[in-house]
Amino acid sequence: EKDAPLRGKKILVTAGPTREGLDPVRFFSNLSTGKMGYAIAEQAARLGADVTLISGPVQLDAPPNVTIVRVVSALEMRAAVLRDYQNVDAVIQSAAVADYRPEEAHAQKIKKQDGPLLVRLVRNPDILKELGLKKEKQILIGFAAETENLEANAKRKLETKHLDLLVANLAADGFATDTNKVTFYFANGRYEPHQRLPKHEVASRICAALAALFEESEC
Ligand code: C5P
Repeated sequence: EKDAPLRGKKILVTAGPTREGLDPVRFFSNLSTGKMGYAIAEQAARLGADVTLISGPVQLDAPPNVTIVRVVSALEMRAAVLRDYQNVDAVIQSAAVADYRPEEAHAQKIKKQDGPLLVRLVRNPDILKELGLKKEKQILIGFAAETENLEANAKRKLETKHLDLLVANLAADGFATDTNKVTFYFANGRYEPHQRLPKHEVASRICAALAALFEESEC
């Protein structure tokens, strides 16, 4: 259908940062605002998809006609994604999942002491990679925000995470702004640089690319 190219499709979108607790009042996180993922969820719903948005802590209202699931940490996001992913046709993993969490989340507030405080961080699971390893007929779209070597990193992530599309940007071009300048890298080796655009326009292009990927996978 022309107006609703994603009608009948179930899509899972993740958005925002995660927070990794250190004690009851402190956490590690990153600069993600969730704007990109929320724009994608909104646009996918507008194009007819049945959208679930799994969101880290952000200052945004839920988009219309989207089921929202709020999570805080990477481990909570993983649990929510793994609960829902089997029923969906595509996963768009735009969340900036924290790579590390404090080994110990203290039950009481840490008191200041003389000298430095050592905090040991342990790796969080890579949610998208896990989906990539299990994937059968699904479309998987990932993101990469880099500070250098954009193309090489993008191609490596596309491959190691078994993605159909990787949306890459330089961190300075996308974090905490209303616009983004992205390049699409597809599994077949094709790539597509885009101009700097408002995030809602980037979202439209991602949804158009997704609709095209669905068409290719069906014929
Ligand atoms: O390897 P890198 O973290 O740059 O890859 C980014 C992509 O992987 C994003 O789509 C992000 O949502 C996803 N990711 C994830 N779980 C992690 C880290 C990243 O799903 N622990």
